[in-house]
Amino acid sequence: MQTLNKLNLGIVGACGRGASFKAACDALPQVAIHAVCDINAEELTAARERLGAQEQYTDYAQMLDRADLDAVIIGTPMHFHVPMAVAALERNLHVLSEVTAGVSIEECRQLVETCKLSRGVYMMAENYTYMRPNVIVREMVRAGLFGKPYYAEGEYIHELKELNEVTVWRRRWQTGVNGVTYGTHSLGPILQWMPGDRVVSVCGAGSGHNHQDPRGNDYENEDSCLMLCKMASGGLVKIRVDMLSDRPHAVTNYQIQGTDGCYESARAVGERHRVWLRERCPDANTWLDMDDLSNEFLPELWKEHSARAESAGHGGGDYFEILDFVDAIEGRRPNPIDIHAAMDMTLPGLISQLSIAEESVWMPVPDSRDW
Ligand SMILES: NC(=O)c1ccc[n+]([C@@H]2O[C@H](COP(=O)([O-])OP(=O)(O)OC[C@H]3O[C@@H](n4cnc5c(N)ncnc54)[C@H](O)[C@@H]3O)[C@@H](O)[C@H]2O)c1
Repeated sequence: MQTLNKLNLGIVGACGRGASFKAACDALPQVAIHAVCDINAEELTAARERLGAQEQYTDYAQMLDRADLDAVIIGTPMHFHVPMAVAALERNLHVLSEVTAGVSIEECRQLVETCKLSRGVYMMAENYTYMRPNVIVREMVRAGLFGKPYYAEGEYIHELKELNEVTVWRRRWQTGVNGVTYGTHSLGPILQWMPGDRVVSVCGAGSGHNHQDPRGNDYENEDSCLMLCKMASGGLVKIRVDMLSDRPHAVTNYQIQGTDGCYESARAVGERHRVWLRERCPDANTWLDMDDLSNEFLPELWKEHSARAESAGHGGGDYFEILDFVDAIEGRRPNPIDIHAAMDMTLPGLISQLSIAEESVWMPVPDSRDW
């Protein structure tokens, strides 16, 4: 039975990451979590009850065929994202997919082809673009405060050797491949800070193998993997992903440099996000606390929906991600992370894996718009 006037959602991976979308869906009156799917049969009923869904499935194709769905949220391990998105899009269902969009260039190409033929809307759930400081920097860029951005850095440093053994797909897809395997959290916000730009070539390099898994094997992924990204505009972006080094997590390190200003994110608890802006700072060596500018630059939509958004957690970002997905489906606003934006965020990491295997040679990054 379809829930009247609501967008019926199916969530796959409902016993894991998929469940994290609940608070945002609950805060939005126009969506209903109608069905859940997970291969973990033991925990599925509890997950269905927690998520308030009417139906549950252990088989994804069955959910797509039997449940009365408008859209799916894909929260399964990375290598399922493309096959699951393709299966939904082929049925003209809308898709919100976890990151990264895909694990190989070939399957990314298949996803793009499928999107072209489908009436379903595809959006990638790059939630780091919805983090409040990242949204404020984006709005400051749009207001021209940094001038022309030409350099940026993003880092995702998240030691997960133990988690690799629990969620074993990570040992294969995140630390079992050399190069930047999980770069969209770092590159995604930066691409939004360089509007109209894209990565045209990539050079991948690593810091060697200084850690072994519990079986005594080297991780295929070097401890710290870097990719240098040459932008179409001539600018440069440096991305570092490290999931192996022993140290405190630092998954939201960013900076951006423009002709008229720069931003550096807080790197540890107690630090402040800071900006230097030619037109606002008294001299070349005085930083401003970005929090002092947040009210001025937070989008109006964020202010209007603040009460509902806050209730959904994560500073409101999760709520606005789902709101953008729904508005894109209903044609109210453009899809901020459509298939091509998703490819712009995903393909450089996949190319870095080829580059690192070829002694860090610079390699071109395809533009999915040409596919
Ligand atoms: N955006 C973020 O901040 C963020 C955070 C965590 C994880 N993730 C992403 O979410 C995804 C899942 O990560 P996780 O940590 O929840 O992993 P997980 O292994 O803990 O959970 C994945 C869930 O998917 C289920 N599953 C696996 N194969 C399935 C299949 N074929 N059909 C149905 N269900 C299946 C598993 O049983 C499990 O419940 C990954 O792609 C990861 O990169 C994103």
